[in-house]
Amino acid sequence: MSLFAELGGPGGYVLLLVVTFAAHALLVGFVLGAAAWATARALVGGDDPVAAAARDWLPFALGAAITAGVAPLLLIQVLYQHRVYTATLLMSHRFMAIVPALIAGFYLLYLGKSVRARAWSGARRGLVSGAALLAFLFVAWSWIEEHTLAAAGAETWVAHYRDGRVFHRDPVIAVRLALWLGLAAVAFATGAAWLAGARAGRAELRRLGGLGLTGLAVAAAAAVGTVGGRAGELPAMATPWLVLAGSGAAVTAAGMIALAGGRGRAGRRLATVGAVALFLAVAALREVDRAHAIEWRATLDGAQGLPLFVVCLLLATGAIAWCARLVRRHLDERAA
Ligand code: HEM
Repeated sequence: MSLFAELGGPGGYVLLLVVTFAAHALLVGFVLGAAAWATARALVGGDDPVAAAARDWLPFALGAAITAGVAPLLLIQVLYQHRVYTATLLMSHRFMAIVPALIAGFYLLYLGKSVRARAWSGARRGLVSGAALLAFLFVAWSWIEEHTLAAAGAETWVAHYRDGRVFHRDPVIAVRLALWLGLAAVAFATGAAWLAGARAGRAELRRLGGLGLTGLAVAAAAAVGTVGGRAGELPAMATPWLVLAGSGAAVTAAGMIALAGGRGRAGRRLATVGAVALFLAVAALREVDRAHAIEWRATLDGAQGLPLFVVCLLLATGAIAWCARLVRRHLDERAA
């Protein structure tokens, strides 16, 4: 039985959640990878076209990543209602700390690409993008913590509240973070190969390909750890998504190998097709896992606004694509 058929009525919402969450994950992956690359480059010294593209695109990519988080945020509230509200209320200020962290991260990204920052030493520039990276890692950790707490049992919630805990601790959180960081390397290597374009020389392509392959290996190891850490067998409806994830990873790996071999055009295309399939499959597997671990909202009869949501989604996607074209054109003019 498929993930969407099993859910009957809410199938449309789950489909939207999978697609919108995959977009969010791809974009936050790019942000994490770009901040890490910019930091490493500043600390090592010198500059390269990938670091320049990362610095230029980071504020926009962060804005797009945050915007892409809104749709899945609405959808998890529709589908998992009381669990999402409970986890968010229990984490309270601790969870809301992601807002100042993101504001600080945004500011640091603009500072990092400012004309003033160009005159600074590598250590100082590394400090700026490194601080932004830490802010984004904190946000990633917080979302995984929230996700894990929402999926936990009522006894965990009671203990959390009774003991006045600020953090929800679970060994699975670190493994999930490793999984997302591995995938972040894939998203960044793919995105940067497009954005640096012809400016990326053989050395940069080789590094991007190597980074993508390392990311795939880390993600695969962490995925094995995540599956090993869960109670019970994987449900049968996970099988098609596992096949898609495996195929996506294989195509991505072929793209990364092409990049590492200096074949930029073929590498970029293969990596993009593979990464999109991989992220969609991972997003679907998250829901397969969740659908089996917890109950759905009892009824979706009162859930409203799907047509309006779809219209807004299309408008926002169009606006983001238009902004991306404007930025791209401006960058090309500057490079000419
Ligand atoms: C740089 C900023 C951000 C990073 C690095 C980030 C990272 C992540 C990660 C790693 C997850 C996966 C959690 C898991 O599977 O365990 C996640 C989930 C999610 N994020 Fe983000 N996120 C960021 C910002 C945001 C923002 C601003 C929003 C809301 C507007 C948002 C909405 C979501 C939602 C709705 C989920 C799914 C939660 C669930 O299904 O339980 N994220 N994020």
